[in-house]
Amino acid sequence: SLAVPNVQQLASSSNDVVPVRYIRPELELDRVSNDEYSGRIPVIDIGKLVDGDEESAKLLHSACRDWGFFQFHPFSCKKNVFDESWVFYPNLKQVINHGVAEEVILNMKDDVQEFFRQPLQLKMECAQLPNDLEGYGQAFVVSEEQKLDWGDMLFILTRPIEGRKMRFWPKVPSSFRATLDKYSSELEKLSVILLSSMARNLGLDPDELLSSFKEGSQSIRMNYYPPCKQASKVTGLSPHSDAGGLTLLTQVNQVQGLQIKKDGKWVPVDPIPGAFIVNIGDIIEIMSNGEYKSIEHRAVVNPEKERLSIAAFHNTNFNAMIGPLPAIISKDQKQAPNYKTVSAIDYIKLVVSCKLDGKGLVDQ
Ligand code: SIN
Ligand code: FE2
Repeated sequence: SLAVPNVQQLASSSNDVVPVRYIRPELELDRVSNDEYSGRIPVIDIGKLVDGDEESAKLLHSACRDWGFFQFHPFSCKKNVFDESWVFYPNLKQVINHGVAEEVILNMKDDVQEFFRQPLQLKMECAQLPNDLEGYGQAFVVSEEQKLDWGDMLFILTRPIEGRKMRFWPKVPSSFRATLDKYSSELEKLSVILLSSMARNLGLDPDELLSSFKEGSQSIRMNYYPPCKQASKVTGLSPHSDAGGLTLLTQVNQVQGLQIKKDGKWVPVDPIPGAFIVNIGDIIEIMSNGEYKSIEHRAVVNPEKERLSIAAFHNTNFNAMIGPLPAIISKDQKQAPNYKTVSAIDYIKLVVSCKLDGKGLVDQ
């Protein structure tokens, strides 16, 4: 990867002119559909889901099939802002004994904000090394010509635990490492709950899907998008689908920026306070033989306000084979595999060699 400027630093300089490498005429940043889909983005009640509620399972299934995307609220009782009929489950803790405590999420948000507030020199103690994504820096820069995204990130491999490289884990704020560790394990548990429900919805024994994710890898990417005077001409994060299995995203502050592509149009996702956003990644699309779809999404930036988000990627273990699950193919003899099967290692190699570019990966 190539060294590029720190965007937070660039944005804070008094110069209002955005360098040409960030200007993106091709992305049609203002062609956004606000009305058509607003209020229709699926919201799942995870408490009911783990209680075996059939309606919730059906809603999850259609969300995975038709959207590749949904939101859920993990810890408090709250009315769906879009549809009065959905009431969130009071307390996930009562159901699975180890729900994500609200403070784990709040601490994570606080510590991430605090990290990005540190002087550049201090953040650079966690800087990426050449040809590696892990650490503090920017995403996927493979050529001098490539347009750049208006954002910085701190990308950390959190699982398997023996793969952790502590040099990339901030020491400031002092609570950061403990907070990230806790957040990592809570989200891991949540991903297992969601994957189990998805497996059942696909007519599988949960283990037929979960075995690939057991001792799987998890990485957490903390995104910082500074405000941009020419916000409508830049992207915070280029359009892409997530290459991994399942992504759980938290929007740290209530600044809108995430957009998903639905039927060819970009749809903004309003942050629901406290809710998680879940993306189906390419691996689940492949394993489900295309029944579930990974969704293309991007992040836009705000002219006045900074925006922060935290994405947790849940991937298979390194021994897994990435391909349509045999149980899905044999369930319906008429079904042919729509994707090649490759080893997880080869799959990762393929992923890191590509820059973010729509849904290029699953088409190969
Ligand atoms: C992501 O795609 O991982 C991040 C999107 C966002 O910042 O909302
Ligand atoms: Fe993403």
